[in-house]
Amino acid sequence: MTGSTARAVIVQPGGGFDKVTFGERPVPEPGPGAITVRLRASSLNYHDYAVVSGMWGPSEPRVPMSDGAGEVEAVGPGPNDFAVGDRVVSTFFPTWTEGTPRVEGFATVPGDGVDGYARERVTAPASAFTHAPKGWDHAEAATLTTAALTAWRALHADAGLKSGDVVLVQGTGGVSLFALQFAKAAGATVIATSSSDDKLERLRGLGADHVINYRADPAWGETARRLTDGRGVDHVVDVGGPATLEQSMAAVRVAGHISVIGILSGVAGELPLVPALLKQIRLQGVLVGSRRHQIEMVRGIEACGLRPVVDSRYPLDELVAAFRHQESNRHFGKICIAI
Ligand SMILES: NC(=O)c1ccc[n+]([C@@H]2O[C@H](COP(=O)([O-])OP(=O)(O)OC[C@H]3O[C@@H](n4cnc5c(N)ncnc54)[C@H](OP(=O)(O)O)[C@@H]3O)[C@@H](O)[C@H]2O)c1
Repeated sequence: MTGSTARAVIVQPGGGFDKVTFGERPVPEPGPGAITVRLRASSLNYHDYAVVSGMWGPSEPRVPMSDGAGEVEAVGPGPNDFAVGDRVVSTFFPTWTEGTPRVEGFATVPGDGVDGYARERVTAPASAFTHAPKGWDHAEAATLTTAALTAWRALHADAGLKSGDVVLVQGTGGVSLFALQFAKAAGATVIATSSSDDKLERLRGLGADHVINYRADPAWGETARRLTDGRGVDHVVDVGGPATLEQSMAAVRVAGHISVIGILSGVAGELPLVPALLKQIRLQGVLVGSRRHQIEMVRGIEACGLRPVVDSRYPLDELVAAFRHQESNRHFGKICIAI
């Protein structure tokens, strides 16, 4: 199968759902340190939506999708972390293997600066993948690369999450549901928000201790703080951006931690500096995580037995329909693609 070509989705320059085409990409034989993977699944993230919809369209024809899972079909000569038949999941930053962040932006990210995983096969350096959790299907594994790793890194690597901490998560997208699940698995109390009362019930079903409708209660940050007897939450996983940061600051405790992750409400706004100073808040920008973080996350997931929340599964040929579903905000958790 290698030394040939593979069917791929290709987004034409500028992006836009009308610029989504199908084509071929070469699949070279794997050289030393490389593997060829038969991709079986991907999953949608807001970042992929931005690339494919044209919000951050590519400057050249691009295979979209940062998340990819499948099985190893061929291994290059010499030492390698993988064997033929291993089930694997892609890394967001193939060049950031461990240690402090040394990446800025998306130039090396599959599905943005380089070709991603909306294709049947790929030959890549082994650092572009890790093992997938044992017993997970490919679609479940494909939820890890972006959404899960961002939540894991925010709570475990950056925030130093401890049992008994209070964590606030926002909305019911991929990052937030993983953050809820990781926080509960670590013995934390979780306050979760949503714009939908039906989704709030589902958040309770996932283990959320308190839920708040952020549409019905615009001062939800104060409400969250009251739920902690006025002390404030230890960690906020902020995915809203300009529309949520002020309330996140209201919710957090003195010297608490806010992971600045998302831009769902836009990319610019006013940052209220006074509460940041008075409360001595730690605001931490997050850009996914390293391959080492991913290896640690897979180990943690296997130990606690957590499974991802998969909202729906679409075939690769219906990638645009999957993005339309994401755009509708009707989803709860991850939208997956079968390849
Ligand atoms: N920095 C990073 O490393 C990183 C990594 C991954 C994602 N992100 C960012 O994180 C955000 C979420 O990504 P995702 O892939 O999880 O998205 P997603 O799955 O598409 O999540 C969308 C959900 O977020 C909620 N939401 C929308 N607007 C909101 C608002 N103003 N306040 C609170 N919640 C809101 C809605 O939940 P309800 O319907 O329940 O209200 C919506 O269903 C995006 O901005 C994405 O770019 C950043």
